[in-house]
Amino acid sequence: MRITVCRRAHFNAAHRLHNPELSAAENAATFGKCNNEYYHGHNYELIVHVTGEVDPKTGYLIDMKVLRDHIKLEVEDYLDHKNLNVQVEEFKTLNPTAEHIAYVIWNRLRSVLHTDLELKVTLYETPRNYVEYSGK
Ligand code: NI
Repeated sequence: MRITVCRRAHFNAAHRLHNPELSAAENAATFGKCNNEYYHGHNYELIVHVTGEVDPKTGYLIDMKVLRDHIKLEVEDYLDHKNLNVQVEEFKTLNPTAEHIAYVIWNRLRSVLHTDLELKVTLYETPRNYVEYSGK
């Protein structure tokens, strides 16, 4: 039986959207308030979707305690209450848009999940704006 299990998580983080290859005027025009040089915060909501075959022995796709611990270590401990641009290695070279944050989260979780499991992440930057990434 093929099924998807999901777990929600949450973190707060600060960022600034800025491309050093653009002029100050172009950055302001492109990123608006998110270009504020003094940074600003978001309450990010994450949904992790894991898909695969249920283990007939346990009836589980993945032990939720295991999934919870992966999310805590790879996402919450890594990103919560951080200034993404300054404190998170990946965003020293990657603009911390919701798209890129979802990409980084997906890669970190992918590296710790069994290869038989499919992974998708949904990341809400605001209650109305969200992105999805499944590694494709
Ligand atoms: Ni922002």
